[in-house]
Amino acid sequence: MKTWKIAVIPGDGVGPEVVAEGMKLLKQVARMDGAFAVEDIWFPWGCEYYLKRGRMMDEDGMERLKDFDAIFLGAVGAPGVPDHISLWDLLLTIRKGFDQYVNLRPVKLLSGAPCPLKGVKKEEVNMTFIRENSEGEYAGSGSWLYRGKPQEVVIQDGVFSRAGCERIIRYAFETARRERRSLTSVSKANALNYSMVFWDQIFDEVSREYPDVETHAYLVDAASMFMVKDPGRFEVVVTSNLFGDILTDLGAAIAGGMGLAAGANLNPERRYPSMFEPIHGSAPDIAGRGIANPMAAVWSVSQMLDFFGYEEWGARILAAIERVLVKGEALTPDLGGTSSTQEVGNAILKEI
Ligand code: NAD
Ligand code: IPM
Ligand code: MN
Repeated sequence: MKTWKIAVIPGDGVGPEVVAEGMKLLKQVARMDGAFAVEDIWFPWGCEYYLKRGRMMDEDGMERLKDFDAIFLGAVGAPGVPDHISLWDLLLTIRKGFDQYVNLRPVKLLSGAPCPLKGVKKEEVNMTFIRENSEGEYAGSGSWLYRGKPQEVVIQDGVFSRAGCERIIRYAFETARRERRSLTSVSKANALNYSMVFWDQIFDEVSREYPDVETHAYLVDAASMFMVKDPGRFEVVVTSNLFGDILTDLGAAIAGGMGLAAGANLNPERRYPSMFEPIHGSAPDIAGRGIANPMAAVWSVSQMLDFFGYEEWGARILAAIERVLVKGEALTPDLGGTSSTQEVGNAILKEI
């Protein structure tokens, strides 16, 4: 029997609350399937760990993670630890260290999920965001000169390599071709006169290899406007690291909220483990009350099963979430309900 080794990093705030529900579901699926098992090892890394030990993860953390099949992460970040430390020393270390250069984020309006846009049918909000996840605006290149002096200056570079742009754009074209959907590139070459001109050029070059894929290109400001005014124009979308970060929170807003937005950080070559996580953060405003919506975390478990090759289970999990939404009996407060995180997790479990 195949045993999938999963490293679980619940992290901070609502992270542990939603991860518990995701893992419960994953184990239930394994039991029901019967042909595979899950071995989970939990890591207590995060801000509490940092406050005790001065590190976000163990020194040999990456070494210990590297042989897992996947990582399931809750959220990172807590008041009391500067965000650039907590995120760079854990989440971004993993994304970069394991070359998880694809950040796959569905923006899909499920039946029963609230949409704040007027007169929009659920079919019109069905996008697959493919966010570059290894470089760009998040390369971590820059400097801070004359710190604290009157002539103080900071520089934050955007780093766009040919190899980095080509591989993410090619991944997006492959996805669009497989799904028979259009591909939209989002950039900003009118103002970012090196990085985004280069991005657009590479998009054009790669597109010649895929004459069967219909393409569109928008500037990021117009893209955000159209996502609200006319979301139906977007199917598969490829964009840079920072633009993808921002647009997928906007995407979450039009597809039911942060509690429903899932994401996968993929190393498509499978040389390293991929990481599955809700796209929301640690939500300190609601943490510790047992009311966080676990649906995003559960959806990311569905992405994990897709990645392992169990697409049927992935689809069944999504359908189970959808049935819970449609019934409307077990919903957390972000969706207008009064149920707890656990009650929603159990409702999904029952539907599966
Ligand atoms: P956030 O996503 O944590 O919260 C934004 C809003 O969405 C809040 O009102 C929150 O209550 C709500 N929300 C988020 N998840 C929810 C859920 N599952 N159910 C119901 N409501 C939910 O973003 P933020 O407040 O900007 O950031 C908080 C902390 O999280 C910061 O430290 C930030 O750096 C970190 N962060 C981490 C990740 C990650 O680990 N992947 C992602 C984003 C932010
Ligand atoms: C996300 C988060 C992270 C990002 C932060 C916490 C570094 O916002 O996963 O969307 O910007 O990638
Ligand atoms: Mn984000």
